Amino acid sequence: MCYAIPGKITNIAGNIVTLDYFGEEKKARNEFYELSVNEYAYAQGGFIVSKIKEAEALAALEVWKELFSKLKEIDRRLAFGPKDMRQAANAVRQKHLGNACCVHGIIEFSNYCINDCLYCGIRNSNKKLKRYRMSEKEIADACDYAVNELGFKALVLQSGEDDWYTGEKLINIVSKVRKKCAALLILSIGERDLNIYKNLYDLGARAALLRFETSDGKLYEKYRPRHKLEDRLELIRQLRGMGYLIMTGFLIRAGENEEDIIKDIELTASLGAEMFSFGPFIPHPDTPLGRGTVCRAPTELLELSLNTIARARIMYPEARILATTALETLDKKNGIKNALLSGANSLMINVTPLKYQQFYDIYPRRAGAGVDFKKKIEDTVSMLRSLGRAPSDLGL
Ligand code: 5AD
Repeated sequence: MCYAIPGKITNIAGNIVTLDYFGEEKKARNEFYELSVNEYAYAQGGFIVSKIKEAEALAALEVWKELFSKLKEIDRRLAFGPKDMRQAANAVRQKHLGNACCVHGIIEFSNYCINDCLYCGIRNSNKKLKRYRMSEKEIADACDYAVNELGFKALVLQSGEDDWYTGEKLINIVSKVRKKCAALLILSIGERDLNIYKNLYDLGARAALLRFETSDGKLYEKYRPRHKLEDRLELIRQLRGMGYLIMTGFLIRAGENEEDIIKDIELTASLGAEMFSFGPFIPHPDTPLGRGTVCRAPTELLELSLNTIARARIMYPEARILATTALETLDKKNGIKNALLSGANSLMINVTPLKYQQFYDIYPRRAGAGVDFKKKIEDTVSMLRSLGRAPSDLGL
C-alpha cells in the first residue's frame, strides 16, 4: 500500500500544475522540478513533492484503478446516507441562513393552457378538466385580500400559458395589484413575449417563476412537444438580465438517478436562481404520462424528493429552497415539515379563491386544495413555530 496516488500532469501554467487522478483534476505548485505535460508526479499539501517515472506511476495506478472508484462509492454512500444527509443539510441551512423562512402566497388565476406537456393535468388536450379564468377584478381582489387581510408579503400570480391574458390585460392586472398591495410580486405565467415581461417589470413585478423541468434536452422535447430546452433556458436568462429574481427548478422523476438529479440541481444554480423550486412528478390519470406509467411507490418518491432537497442544500448552502406542494401531496401530514428539516427554507400557501382551487389540477389530490385559508395559515404558522422558524425575509 502506498500513501499517495501519482497524478498525471495535464497542464502547466507557470508554476501551477494540473494533475489528473482518474478524471479528477487537482492543482499543485511546482517549485523544484522540470516537468512537462503527460509526465507523472506526486503532490502533497498542494506542492509537487516528486517527479516519477511513467512505469512506476502506471504500476501504482494499476493498483488504485478499481479501488479509487470503489472508495468513492463507499464514501458517497456514507456521506449521503438518507438520514445523515438530511440532518447535515438541515445543519448547513441553519448555519448559513439561520431560522428565516419565506412564506409566499400563490394565486392560480387561470387553468387554461396552450401547451400540451405530457405530465401536466392542465394540458390543452385534457378535455375532462373544467376550465376557469379569473377576471382582472377578481385577481386584484384576491391579491388585495391575500396581502391586506391575510398579511402576505410576497405573492405568486400563476396560470397556465394563457394568451387570453394579453400584454394589455396583464399590465392592467399588475398595475391594479401594485396599487393595492405592498408585496413582492412574482409572475408564473410561462413563456410570454419578452416585451410583456419587460412592461410588467417596469410596473413593479420583481420575480419570475419558470421551471426548466429537466436538464435532459431530449426528455424535455418529449415531455413538452414543440418546445426546446435551450429556448426555455434562454428566456430564464433574459428575464434574469432584465432584473427579475428567478425561481426555477425541475420535476423529480420516478427512475431518475443520482447523476441526473445532480445535473438538475447544478442547472438550477447555474441559472442564478434566487429560489430553487423542484418537486416530485405526480402522475395525472388524464395525461399521457399518467396513463399506464409505472409509478414509484409514493414513499420512495417522497424519500427521493427529501434527499434532493438535502443534496441541493449541501451543494448550495446559501440557496433558498422551496418545500413544494407536490411534496406535501405525497405526505400531507409531514411532507412540508420534513422538507424544512432536510434543508428547505421557503414555502407557499395557496390563496386562490376556494371555488377555483380544485380546478388547478396539475396533478391529482393536491394538498391544501379547498382548505380554508385562515386554517391553512394557522396550521403553517404553528408548524413553523414548532420547528423554531420565523417567517422573516431571507435577505439578499
Ligand atoms: N406532478 C408534479 N408537478 C407538476 N407540474 C406539472 N405537472 C405536474 C405533475 N404531474 C409542475 C411543473 C410546472 C409547475 C407549474 O407544475 O413543474 O412547471
